[in-house]
Amino acid sequence: MKITVNTGTIEKVRTGALAVLLFEKGKFGTFASRADRALGGMIEKLVSRGDFTPKAGNVTVLYPEGDLAADRLLLVGLGAAADFSADKLRLACAKAASAARGAGAKDLVIAMDSTALTGEEAGEALAEGALLGLYRFLRYKTTRENNGAKELERLTVLTERSTQVKALSKGLSAGEIIAASAIMARDMVSSPSADMTPTTIAGIARGLGRKFRLRVKVLDRPQMRRLGMGALLGVAAGSVQQPKFIIVEYRGGGRKPWIALVGKTITFDSGGISIKPSENMDKMKDDMGGGAAVLGAIRSAAALKLPLNIVALLPATENMPSGSALKPGDVLTTMSGKTIEIINTDAEGRLILADALAYACRYKPSLIVDIATLTGACRIALGTEASGMIGTDEGLKQALRDAGEKTGERVWELPLWEGYCDLIKSDIADMKNAGGRDGGVITAACLLSKFVEKHPWAHLDIAATAWTDRERPYTPKGATGIGARLLTQFLREQAEKTKKG
Ligand code: BES
Ligand code: MN
Ligand code: ZN
Repeated sequence: MKITVNTGTIEKVRTGALAVLLFEKGKFGTFASRADRALGGMIEKLVSRGDFTPKAGNVTVLYPEGDLAADRLLLVGLGAAADFSADKLRLACAKAASAARGAGAKDLVIAMDSTALTGEEAGEALAEGALLGLYRFLRYKTTRENNGAKELERLTVLTERSTQVKALSKGLSAGEIIAASAIMARDMVSSPSADMTPTTIAGIARGLGRKFRLRVKVLDRPQMRRLGMGALLGVAAGSVQQPKFIIVEYRGGGRKPWIALVGKTITFDSGGISIKPSENMDKMKDDMGGGAAVLGAIRSAAALKLPLNIVALLPATENMPSGSALKPGDVLTTMSGKTIEIINTDAEGRLILADALAYACRYKPSLIVDIATLTGACRIALGTEASGMIGTDEGLKQALRDAGEKTGERVWELPLWEGYCDLIKSDIADMKNAGGRDGGVITAACLLSKFVEKHPWAHLDIAATAWTDRERPYTPKGATGIGARLLTQFLREQAEKTKKG
């Protein structure tokens, strides 16, 4: 979809759909007032009589029949002015865009009054909201009625002030980049595991490498063996799909130290020999959501030309049962030399992350963030409103919290106390890979913490947030692409901070 900015008078805009944004109470903005006047006070009447309540994300379609040049007028709610934020604008624009497409319009003009946001912030939220809200995964729909033949082709932002054009278009471009990265992550997560293998993901990384000048290295089994990645190889032992250890480097930061992002990339988690029940096992194609998120984030960082050095690490494999599979009771030697007794082969994410985190330490990074669909326990602890966060560095955790608030991809911290870590002590090895049902999010993180040396580190558990069964603001049902936007925002803030510091 092509996105542009224009100045002009609202009455004369020729378009399939024209959207005006309304706050729940208080005066209309300039655009809404002019549209209202052209329609003889109809908007005012609809709102005051309660036929349309401008709650955030509410939309109604009107037919101006010549009073305006537009074919349709969409009234779009922003909610209370006091609660206004970039997130509300994302939601409103997502709803406007899908209502326009649903009504059959080919193009949409969003009339954007000036708000408390800067032009750049508004442009970014607008593009992000519209693109993410329009997202559909159609790769496997073959018929016309199934594949949603209707598409919105153009989105134009109408502003009253020519001085805003530059800021708005700068924001729109950033929003397009960030949405495209999140959509890439959604597409990867939505894809069946048969078509999103470690090899496929390595190919996607190489494609990004060519497009954005990233250095991409992919290690195969013999190379992993030489590095001593016994944990990753142990998980891969039962699969006929070749595991890949994918390394993506973006160098935009001169002599700055590396930032390491590590993403769990299990392309299918059957549980292995400790096999999962069949109910919902189909969803276990989403177990590479962490890897998709870090690829999305490094894509955004490169496209936004952030002045940082970033390495994204994706340990990629299936977790399958077979005659050659890892078994409960086995002991694996990790790349760091530490040993892990396998209690449950379904606790595989922490195993592949153990080797990836050890590999991350070779970069002597200024910080490490890992992101993983790690534990079902995270859903029990926090539900689907927040991802779990555990880490060793207060500044890093605060930065992730801030990025979470800004992007709507919120995180909530759980503690990493000694007593929890006692639960993964093994009788025969350095640790065991499962600590029982109590505090499952935390005992998983305890294991990870043994592999990050002294580097500032935070872990994000997205097991409950990578996929959604109900529609969320600007997130249709299915893969959410969570983490791509959160980590991008985090990286932008790191870029700001290291510029000043
Ligand atoms: N990938 C799963 C976690 C998961 C569960 C993600 C549900 C999304 C939805 C992970 O590998 C896993 O199986 N974890 C086990 C750990 C247990 C065996 C200690 C779990 O959470 O049950
Ligand atoms: Mn598992
Ligand atoms: Zn898993």
